[in-house]
Amino acid sequence: MVILSIETSCDETAVSVVRAQGTFPDATYTIEGNALHSQIDVHSTYGGVYPAMAKREHIQRIVPLTKKALSQAGLLVEKESDLTQERQETLYELLYREQQLAQDVAALSKQYQKPDIDLIAVTHGPGLEPALWVGVNFAKALSLLWNIPVVPTNHMEGHILAGVLQKTEKAESKSLKIAPVQFPALALLISGGHTELIHAKTWGVYEKVGQTKDDATGEAFDKVARMLDLPYPGGPEIGKRAALARKNNLPIYAELPRPMLHSNDLDFSFSGLKTAVRYAIEDKKLSEDETNALSRDFEDAVTEVLVKKTHDATDTYGIQTIIVGGGVSASQHIRESLLSHFAEHFPEVTLYFPNTGLSTDNAVMIALAGHSRTNQTLSSTEAKTVTAQGNLSLADE
Ligand code: KG4
Ligand code: ZN
Repeated sequence: MVILSIETSCDETAVSVVRAQGTFPDATYTIEGNALHSQIDVHSTYGGVYPAMAKREHIQRIVPLTKKALSQAGLLVEKESDLTQERQETLYELLYREQQLAQDVAALSKQYQKPDIDLIAVTHGPGLEPALWVGVNFAKALSLLWNIPVVPTNHMEGHILAGVLQKTEKAESKSLKIAPVQFPALALLISGGHTELIHAKTWGVYEKVGQTKDDATGEAFDKVARMLDLPYPGGPEIGKRAALARKNNLPIYAELPRPMLHSNDLDFSFSGLKTAVRYAIEDKKLSEDETNALSRDFEDAVTEVLVKKTHDATDTYGIQTIIVGGGVSASQHIRESLLSHFAEHFPEVTLYFPNTGLSTDNAVMIALAGHSRTNQTLSSTEAKTVTAQGNLSLADE
């Protein structure tokens, strides 16, 4: 089956075309089209993501990106015939709040044939609701025009599956498979919007066992970066600085707290740590070395808490596999710390991290999530009821 997947939950607009041969989780996947636009430049001036701005950007980008992904997959074929008056009216009715999108979709369907797609997978939560609505309404519009069913997917399930998507044995082949995960598994999802520990009894059966009480891990990185006058997104920049500080053995700049390290539960809190960094900076202008040292002190504090809570959850639930996902899982230091800690304390546990390009938001992971939920597919008439759900939780499904 060929899946067109759409992701607009935060500040990345992404569309993919993924071919799935076989049934989940044993299928073989090929990424035939993958187009992504990051709004980093738009949001960097503000040090964070503004929902209204994110929405506007998604509206502008979604159709061009869809054309790009379809064209990469060889599925964008020009046609002569026009859109019926009735179809056009239904389309404008559906997208009455997104006029520009309605025009773009109408133009798309006037110019091109219905592509050979079997399923549209779209993120309907969690995320920023105005942003999510763009993807959801766009998916509904395409579903209606082309009479293709829709499967609403959970962004976090996407991050989990992205963590275990691997190349197959044949090096020259472009095909990918879901790793043979041993359950119970634990997902550590660390992104700009989320910090969660998910206990997976099997695929699709999840229980959230820990979460942040305030800032998400990535959000803490971004806010601390802002205090240090470092560019957005903060994670990679702090990571680079911290690595330099370690390489040069810079002395500790500030003794920072490890929030909730001994709280005896699996929850997190990062806002106190952020405040501690603010106090450490005060009104001073830090030198390069001081900035690097403080970046490292901060990254060390975050990492220690993440490792400890992942350790505790592994103990509590007899975990056999750990899947790390979300933008922060790109952090080299966090990866290495988890790997070395688990090699020492739980050598029998396997850890998975997403491949490059799949740790931050993307649409490939949404195709995987959609494929894992084909039993929840909706016809284009039923798809009209899909709503964006900002607070959608994995356990709700
Ligand atoms: O998953 P993601 O792309 O978007 C959300 O769903 O939030 O995550 C983005 C977050 C940002 O906060 C960014 O600072 C963080 O991931 N991030 C990193 C690294 N690369 C991205 N944090 C730490 N180290 C990194 N190398
Ligand atoms: Zn994400």
